[in-house]
Amino acid sequence: LWEAVLKHLTREGTGFHTPGHQGGKGIDPGLTDFWGMSVLRSDLTELPGLDNLYLPRGVIREAQQLMAEVHDAEASCFLVNGTTAGILAMLLAVGGPGKAVVVPRNCHLSVIHGLILSGSIPVFAYPEVDKPTGIPLGISLSTLQTVLEDNPATSAVFLLNPNYFGICGPLQEQVELCHHLGKVVLVDEAHGSHFTFHPRLPLPAMKAGADICAQSYHKTLTSLTQSSVLHWRNTSVAEERIQKAVTMVQSTSPSYLLLASLDIARRQMALHGYHLWEKALDRASRLRKKINGIEGFWCLNKEDITGLGFTDLDETRLVITGQDLGLSGQELANILTLTYHIDVEMAQGSYIVLIITPGTEERDCGLLFKALKEIALERKGSKRKKLFTGDLIPPLPLLRLTPREAWFARHRRVTLEQGIGQVAAEVVAACPPGMPVLIPGEEISPEICRFLTGKIETVNIVDG
Ligand SMILES: Cc1ncc(COP(=O)(O)O)c(C=O)c1O
Repeated sequence: LWEAVLKHLTREGTGFHTPGHQGGKGIDPGLTDFWGMSVLRSDLTELPGLDNLYLPRGVIREAQQLMAEVHDAEASCFLVNGTTAGILAMLLAVGGPGKAVVVPRNCHLSVIHGLILSGSIPVFAYPEVDKPTGIPLGISLSTLQTVLEDNPATSAVFLLNPNYFGICGPLQEQVELCHHLGKVVLVDEAHGSHFTFHPRLPLPAMKAGADICAQSYHKTLTSLTQSSVLHWRNTSVAEERIQKAVTMVQSTSPSYLLLASLDIARRQMALHGYHLWEKALDRASRLRKKINGIEGFWCLNKEDITGLGFTDLDETRLVITGQDLGLSGQELANILTLTYHIDVEMAQGSYIVLIITPGTEERDCGLLFKALKEIALERKGSKRKKLFTGDLIPPLPLLRLTPREAWFARHRRVTLEQGIGQVAAEVVAACPPGMPVLIPGEEISPEICRFLTGKIETVNIVDG
């Protein structure tokens, strides 16, 4: 695909087609000066020789086949609206009105949106929590088994590999159990597209035998933001249905910048992935050790977590706490951003999460280490602050309507107390623990109300 784009760009001639900026000639010069014309000239559309993502028969099809080969998939499909599009497509292809799908309670918001669009009925499975650290793990095999036994009519199971903390659950065993019971396995692998490229990284979903999985190539690999991939293999779901579902959630004018960046990232990883991730893993390991040498900070090691719901940690993810220095994750993230101009991937509860990729350089690691050392020195003797504990999960509310029914029902804004006994029309998630407390269709019980009231008073972060 990338070669076809290059070939098109070296051609003599002109065009009278979208995009309206006409290869950058019509764009405000301020942007042209900063971006350079080559980026803008590469912003192409479905022209002769450049294929069509909607019905790929040429270079896009070839690029998707190469992508599938690299990831042990039978087929892959490029996504220009992130893994969000892949998740919506999976649920539209496999779910449906009245169909039950097992979903981890700590799923991404796009899963809830997929339930609304598809009309599927969620059956929630709670992930385990590592009690000493409060870090969320995966769903244990026994929890999944119980959920499936209690809900024999479920058609599919949605899994997360890894979670935001880089934690992977017993994926292979989960897939085997689901397949044994005839369930389709869908995996949100938004944060795991790099797993294929090094044996020291956790097991990728396709290798574990999942049916369909979506990966954010842009998150941990090197393609442009919003570019993701959907893979499938050996699945009972008809390929045509998956492809049609994908077209329902994608633009008919996909960006060739995104598509070409996926093709190039795949080529880079196929040729140099092992070496690049070996370097990134070593860099992360050195930095982790150095951070753990700073008094007051602690960075999660693989050996620190045991128990159900845990099989592996993506060691390129640094989960750091400064709670012994009296800092919440958000406070630490704020200091890093405001004082040191270092931005983190996520802050939640007592933790910040950072990612190390082939793009992370020694200088970046040096800046972080220096900043943490300074913060530790400055805050020495502060009172310990622990925010993120395993007891923060409220009871699962009763599902009174499907998320789709709730979305289309009449709704109004009420105070939390007035909401008791009513049905939620939107998602409410409190951090910590960062899991939805309510999703559309669930009853607002007095316990949920008390839990949320407590959150507003103590942590003051409630979305919804
Ligand atoms: C676990 C998880 N799944 C899915 C998504 C959506 O991915 P994308 O941003 O590629 O649409 C995200 C995004 O942050 C995520 O964290």
